[in-house]
Amino acid sequence: KYKAVIFDLDGVICHTDAYHYQAWKALADRMDIYFDETINNRLRGVSRMKSLEIILEGNMGAALTDSEKQYLAEEKNNIYKKLLENMGPGDLSNQVRQTLNILRGAGIKLAIGSSSKNAGFILKQIGLGGYFDAISDGNNITRSKPDPEVFLMASEYLNIPKEDCLVVEDAAAGVDAAIAGGMDCAGIGDEMELKLADYHLKNFNDLLGIVLM
Ligand code: BG6
Ligand code: MG
Repeated sequence: KYKAVIFDLDGVICHTDAYHYQAWKALADRMDIYFDETINNRLRGVSRMKSLEIILEGNMGAALTDSEKQYLAEEKNNIYKKLLENMGPGDLSNQVRQTLNILRGAGIKLAIGSSSKNAGFILKQIGLGGYFDAISDGNNITRSKPDPEVFLMASEYLNIPKEDCLVVEDAAAGVDAAIAGGMDCAGIGDEMELKLADYHLKNFNDLLGIVLM
C-alpha cells in the first residue's frame, strides 16, 4: 500500500522532550517567566521560534524585537545542544531499530520529516547518521508544522508521490501537517490528541502490520 514512510524524529524515533524542556526551563527561569510541562507539550512539533513565542505569550513577547527573540532562541539552542551530547546509540530502542530494518529490507523507502534544525546531529548521536533515504528538516523549510511543507519536501526528496507515503507523528501539529499535505498518517502517543490520524500505533512495530500488509 505504501512505498515510503516519513518519520517525525523527536517523539517518534527518539525522545528529546526532556532536553527541550530543560533548555526552555533554564531560559524561562533566567527571564523569570513561568514555564511548565503543560506549556512544554504545546511546543511539540512546532519550530524553535514559534516555541519561543508560545513561551513569551502574555509575558513580554510583544515588547521584544526580532533580533532579541533570535538571541533568546539561540541561547535556548545552545543549552539544548549541550544536552544532546548526552545522547548515544542507547537512545535508539531495539524495537525502533528492528522495525526500521524490517521496513527497509522489504524495499520501503525511509525518510525523516522533522521541524528540528538539529535533526542531523541527533541522528548521528543515536547511530542513524546516513541511514535514511532522505532527510527533510528545519533547515530546508520556511513554514513549520502544521504546514505540510516538511513532509511534501520529504516525498520530493524520495521521489515518491505523496499518496504513496505514510507519515508517522507524535504531535497534533504533525498530524495536521500530514492531513494538510494530503498524506496518510499514523499517530503514536496520546490517542485523543492524535484522533485525526488514520491509524494509531500502540507500539512502534504496529507499523509493520500497516505498511507490509
Ligand atoms: C521538533 C520538536 O521536532 O523540533 C519541537 O518537536 C522543536 O519541540 C522543533 O521546537 C524545533 O527544534 P530545534 O532543534 O530546531 O530547536
Ligand atoms: Mg514529534
